[in-house]
Amino acid sequence: MKKHIKGNVSWVGYIDWELETFHGDDYSIMNGSSQNAYLIEEEKTVLVDTVWVPHRFEFVENLKKEIDLHKIDYIIANHGECDHSGSLTALMDEIPDTPIYCTAAAVKSLEGQYGKRGWNFHVVKTGDTLDIGNGKKLIFVEMKMLHWPDSMATFMTGDNILFSNDAFGQHFAVEELFADKADQCLLWKEAIKYFTNILNPFANVLTKKLEELDKLALPIEMIAPSHGAIWREDPMQIVRQYALWADAYQENQVTVVYDTMWEGTAKLAHAIAREISAQSPNTVVKVFNCAKQDKNEIMTEIFKSKAIALGSPTVVNSILSSVAGLLEFMKQLKFKNKRAAGFGCYGWSGESVKLLQARLAECGFEVIEENVRSLWNPEEGDYAQVPALVKSLLNIQDEPENNDTEDKTMSKYVCGPCGYVYDPAVGDPDSGIAPGTPFEALPDDWCCPICGVGKDMFEKAE
Ligand code: FEO
Repeated sequence: MKKHIKGNVSWVGYIDWELETFHGDDYSIMNGSSQNAYLIEEEKTVLVDTVWVPHRFEFVENLKKEIDLHKIDYIIANHGECDHSGSLTALMDEIPDTPIYCTAAAVKSLEGQYGKRGWNFHVVKTGDTLDIGNGKKLIFVEMKMLHWPDSMATFMTGDNILFSNDAFGQHFAVEELFADKADQCLLWKEAIKYFTNILNPFANVLTKKLEELDKLALPIEMIAPSHGAIWREDPMQIVRQYALWADAYQENQVTVVYDTMWEGTAKLAHAIAREISAQSPNTVVKVFNCAKQDKNEIMTEIFKSKAIALGSPTVVNSILSSVAGLLEFMKQLKFKNKRAAGFGCYGWSGESVKLLQARLAECGFEVIEENVRSLWNPEEGDYAQVPALVKSLLNIQDEPENNDTEDKTMSKYVCGPCGYVYDPAVGDPDSGIAPGTPFEALPDDWCCPICGVGKDMFEKAE
């Protein structure tokens, strides 16, 4: 059950291929997940985190097969949420005096969840260290609000492993443990879904924390999160990606989301999608019926988008409940840097579009005035309003598109040192750059994926 990850450090967690939801039913799991716990066996023996409550007895029994529990010198509780602390009750019944290192807030959350059990807490804060022998030590870094007040990370010197807890993780089962062994498409899909649905509300905090981590200059060689794959090859790739995601992220995508009663609002949704493609062929367009499709997946697509169109018919002077629920969740996620439009059908009073616009504004979107309100089913006059809505949503200015400009923005650029060609039609998906992104729109800190030089070393291809 113990799996070696580096030096004298092993993974002792639980991979759950059958898990379907998380946080109650609020987060959908499509590709399994894991709770990662780690065992450090230096002169001192250290357990970093545990696994979720339902697996606590199996966890303790498995651990007993690997070591004498009484040899555990220290337990590190990076986070009090029960997917990582849930086995402590069973474990501490066996070794009640073992010191537990955690933040002050974690003491509150652990005692709040499991009661005051007289556990031997040692409260730590950023910069505190714990000697574990063989010339190695643990350095604690508070990760307050990433994503709970009690969260922290632990850095192990010598092997230079950052046990990052929830940060940099994914709800994704990887039997081989390592990111470089995982299906890359699924890995990044799950990483951005996790970021969107769990961490994006704290993007501002995250940006500051990444700067703080940078100043600490920890020589990170491996990032071992508490869910999903361990980052072993170029572990900082996920840190760089987090920096991009936390900075009002958007790709050249527009997402259309709707619910419908008698198909009228659905017709408008698809008309808007067709018009986006017509006006901007390089823009990725996705359409979701939020009553039928997974809300976490929809949120991830909204996170990637530069704009959304949201539709609901009017029902009892309001909007459909699936759309209302989506808006409530969207407000929590605190998206930035996105435009939005409302649309919908009505039969009698027709408030839905105004309500959608007001609630989208509350969610932090830049809401455009252009909209489509269709009495009963959409007719020619309603469809005639779609181009203006889309033009405004895409923020296309009045001047006709200049072909020279279009050609320029889709030009390929060549890396001077290594010859890599950046093709806007392909983008650089491994670095989070979507197909259709012009070279000019690449982030300033984007680097050549082959040799790592910056944008200034590129020249336009002949
Ligand atoms: Fe994975 Fe916040 O628990």
